[in-house]
Amino acid sequence: MADGCPSIGIDLGTTRCCVGYMRSNNYDVDIIENQHGDRTTPSYVAFSDNNEIIGKLAKDKVYRNPGNVVYDSKRLIGRLFDDEYLQQNLKLWTFNIIPSSDNKPLIQINQESSIVSYKPFEISAKLLAHMRSIAETRLGQVVRDAVITVPAYFNYHQRIETTKAGKLAGLNVCKIMNEPTAAVVAYVYKHNIANCPNILVFDLGGGTFDVTIATVANKSVTVKATSGNTFLGGRDFDNNLAKHIINTLSDRYKTDVSQITASVRRIYGRSEKIKMELSFEEKAQLDLHNILMNGEDVDLEVTREEFEKANEHLFKLCLQTVENCLRQANLFKAEIEKILLVGGSTRIPKLRQMLASYFDAPGKLTQGINPDEAVAYGAAIQAAMLSHGEGTKNIVTINEVTPLSLGIDVIGNRMSFIICRNTPIPVTQTKSYITVSDQQKEMAINVYEGERSLVQYNTKIGTCIIELPPKPPGYLVNISFHINSNGILEVNATTDAGVYSNLAIVYEKHTEQKANDVLKDALENRESDERKRGVISQLIKLKEYCIKMKALCTYKGSTFLEEEKAKINSVVDIMTNWINTTQIQEGTEEEKNNIIKKRTEIENVCEPIVKNYGYEVGDMCISKFHKLLTG
Ligand SMILES: Nc1ncnc2c1ncn2[C@@H]1O[C@H](COP(=O)(O)OP(=O)(O)OP(=O)(O)O)[C@@H](O)[C@H]1O
Ligand SMILES: [Mg+2]
Repeated sequence: MADGCPSIGIDLGTTRCCVGYMRSNNYDVDIIENQHGDRTTPSYVAFSDNNEIIGKLAKDKVYRNPGNVVYDSKRLIGRLFDDEYLQQNLKLWTFNIIPSSDNKPLIQINQESSIVSYKPFEISAKLLAHMRSIAETRLGQVVRDAVITVPAYFNYHQRIETTKAGKLAGLNVCKIMNEPTAAVVAYVYKHNIANCPNILVFDLGGGTFDVTIATVANKSVTVKATSGNTFLGGRDFDNNLAKHIINTLSDRYKTDVSQITASVRRIYGRSEKIKMELSFEEKAQLDLHNILMNGEDVDLEVTREEFEKANEHLFKLCLQTVENCLRQANLFKAEIEKILLVGGSTRIPKLRQMLASYFDAPGKLTQGINPDEAVAYGAAIQAAMLSHGEGTKNIVTINEVTPLSLGIDVIGNRMSFIICRNTPIPVTQTKSYITVSDQQKEMAINVYEGERSLVQYNTKIGTCIIELPPKPPGYLVNISFHINSNGILEVNATTDAGVYSNLAIVYEKHTEQKANDVLKDALENRESDERKRGVISQLIKLKEYCIKMKALCTYKGSTFLEEEKAKINSVVDIMTNWINTTQIQEGTEEEKNNIIKKRTEIENVCEPIVKNYGYEVGDMCISKFHKLLTG
């Protein structure tokens, strides 16, 4: 708070936002109440002709004016319109979403008789600006600096767009902080915990799910591993319950209720409340007026058991994510000392039972801190630490990791890993690559996230393009990945011709992988991936051999007789054609032997010629070969 401006922490939730502030006089954290006296504010924006309402009153308007109330911007931010999850849920949102010309979702609102489009980050910005004004009203001061939280599993684009939302809300975003880390920080601070070997944070909110394992030593919080799913939360439990109710009514009344739009909407509108009731009661009563085709009213009893059955697959997914995180942290479940429950959805009894029985220790489960406020509480501590100066700087130290491995694709669609998952951040890692084509004018750096050794199974983040001076094959390009403390990737490259800093990563058409399965897939497919990778390597060596022979004829052409050059060029063309039409299927021995046979064929033609002139270049690495041609 160097210039006297307070610094706040905002939990920008899918369904609710919360803002916290650490007092500079006594270092207590306040969760700031909104104008209704509530400590959390629904993440809803209602538009009318001449104004916008945010929060509780906006949420109340959803069923009267469904098309003009926007929510769930966190589920849309940083995604493409054709994202698998977005498409699955498209019909459930009550407002209209269309694709932009660059395949991003656009939210359409009716204002003053015309249609106005908003990008998801613009809606998030309105929520952030509202939280900022709640803080300003309470603190009686202008607020500029803020720490904003995001799910640990948010990717590059989701983090960038959230930062943009903060800026649009007039905030100086001091840090993008991971939600489960904020929760641990809050827990450690509130309970004055100096040491705890392994805390597992189970953070299930309204729209996203994170599991993080952290260790606390001398008030230093170190994240060991993180796992999650950015499209799994309370909203999905509501939707499954609504589907169940619609099916039950359809069966009972022999009417397809899913075709009665108004009824469907009402049932979806009520399902969250029923879900919550079922957290405290075994049964919930639902009376629905005018719900069937003939306008009939119906009474329906929904049981907790039915709710649990309708969401069985989600419970399983939650547990798989926990297992996944333990595996990444290299820990047995017995080594977990505390399970910190964060997020409103952890009030679901089934989840608690499931965790208690999985860890075989109900006593390890702790709320420790209000599950709705823990994240904002931790963000407020971080905000204070970043701005209060000496007094707060060392309240806790925080060491984060990157949740997924990052790399680029290299010849043969292989993933070349540059930064591995669970590497502490900030981090910079550099790897050297070479061009493989002659006179290559540009290099497309395709950036991927994931654990598989073939990129087709990983998630593409985007592409950076760098222009290169046209040179023979083997021209050296150093590629650096830097992940900053906000978890945001920066790509840099250097060649002997210059430095390419902070390259733009262009978001291409991609579909998000089911994040939960990334590691499991990688483990299960390791053998077949490796087998394929081995055969692909043989094909690449053959391709390199062709490139070298062709380049030798181009750059050292005067050495050879014309007929020798023609012989080499002809066999290289035939072989290149064969390579381009060959697909590696299973990576079998037969596929491998075929390639080796082709290599022998081409060598039988070329080697006697080139060796005659002293060129032993067959197995020479391509960068050394580059020097030979240019030296
Ligand atoms: N008693 C309860 N039983 C079941 N679910 C509940 C209960 N109370 C709240 N929830 C659910 O918790 C969710 C909201 O939790 P929370 O406020 O932590 O999420 P969020 O921060 O908005 O979302 P996210 O962190 O995923 O972006 C909602 O889906 C809500 O229905
Ligand atoms: Mg949350």
